[in-house]
Amino acid sequence: MTSPRVTTDVGAAARCLRAGGIVAIPTETVYGLAALARDESAVHRVFEVKGRPRNHPLIVHVCSLEDARTWAVLDERAEALAGAYWPGPLTLVLPRTDLTPDWVAGGHRTVAVRMPAHPMALAVIEEAGGALVAPSANRFGRVSPTAATHVVADLDGDVDMVLDGGPCPIGIESTIVEIHDDVQILRPGAISAAQVGQTIAVAVSEATGASRAPGMLASHYAPVAKVRLFTGAPQAHAAAVRAGAGKVVVIDEPDTDHFAKTLYQRLRDADAAGATEIAVVMAPEQGIGVAINDRLRKAAAD
Ligand code: TXA
Ligand code: MG
Repeated sequence: MTSPRVTTDVGAAARCLRAGGIVAIPTETVYGLAALARDESAVHRVFEVKGRPRNHPLIVHVCSLEDARTWAVLDERAEALAGAYWPGPLTLVLPRTDLTPDWVAGGHRTVAVRMPAHPMALAVIEEAGGALVAPSANRFGRVSPTAATHVVADLDGDVDMVLDGGPCPIGIESTIVEIHDDVQILRPGAISAAQVGQTIAVAVSEATGASRAPGMLASHYAPVAKVRLFTGAPQAHAAAVRAGAGKVVVIDEPDTDHFAKTLYQRLRDADAAGATEIAVVMAPEQGIGVAINDRLRKAAAD
C-alpha cells in the first residue's frame, strides 16, 4: 500500500476525482473524504474506506445554489437559510429530487446538502463537476480530522490524494438542520439553533430522543483514552492530580472558538502522548459551546 499524495494543487485533486478517485479535501469545519456524488463505485469506496454502514447517508457538497436545487427541493425556509449561511457550516436535510441516486441518500427520502466556505473546497467541487459527497475523513466512530496530517495518519494508503488546505478554521462538523413540517437541529455546530430560528422566524428545537440522523450514535468522535467531563476547572485539575495511576491530560480552554478549533487536535495529541484519561472542562451551553459539549459527551460515552 502506498501513501497518498499530499498536494495543494486543486486541479490535480479535481482530475483525480473525475478519474474515479477518492480525495480528502479541506473544509472550514473538518476534512472530508470526497468522491464524485454521481460516481457509484467511487461513493462505495468511500463507505468501505470509512467502515461506515451503507444506510448512513452522505452530505452532498455543492458550490452553487443552482446545483443544490438539482439534488434537493428547497422551500422558502431552506432558501432563507441557504441565503443567510451558505457558503458556510450549515447542512440542510431536505426532500430529495428524482436526480438524487440511492447510493447517496442511503435509500432515505431526504438528502443532506451543504455549500462549504473553504475556498479550496469550493474550487475543487467546481472543477470536479459540481457535487461531491464528503463524510468526515476519519474511520467510522473516530475523531474527525482537522489537518491533512490527521487524514494521512487515519486513512494512509486507502485514500488516493489529500488536498492540504491547512488547519480547519472552525474545527467541528457543520450544523445539520432538517426541514420538514417542523425544523429540527439534528447535529449542533457553529451555527446555533437560535441563529437558525431567527433567520426563519420560528422556534427551532435541538433533536431529542432517538436521533433522526442515522449515524448520530451516542458513542462517536472517540479518542482511545477515557474522556471525563467536568463543569468546573478546579474539579478537572483536582481529578487529574488524584487519578494517580496512569497519565491524565487536562483540556481547559475558556475561548470557545479556539476550543472548537483545537478540540480534535488535542484529543489526538492526548492519545499520541499515551494518556489513559482526558479530563475536559465543558464549554458554556451557548453558541458553539452547545456543539463542543455535544461532541464531548459523545467522546465520553462508552
Ligand atoms: O462539516 C461537515 O458536515 C463535514 C464536512 C466534511 O463537510 N461532513 C460530515 O459528514 O460531517 P459526515 O458524513 O461525517 O456526517 C454527516 C451526518 C451523518 O451523521 C449522516 O447520518 C447525516 O449527516 N445525514 C446525512 N444525510 C442525512 C439525511 N438524509 N437525513 C438525516 N441525516 C443525514
Ligand atoms: Mg463524521
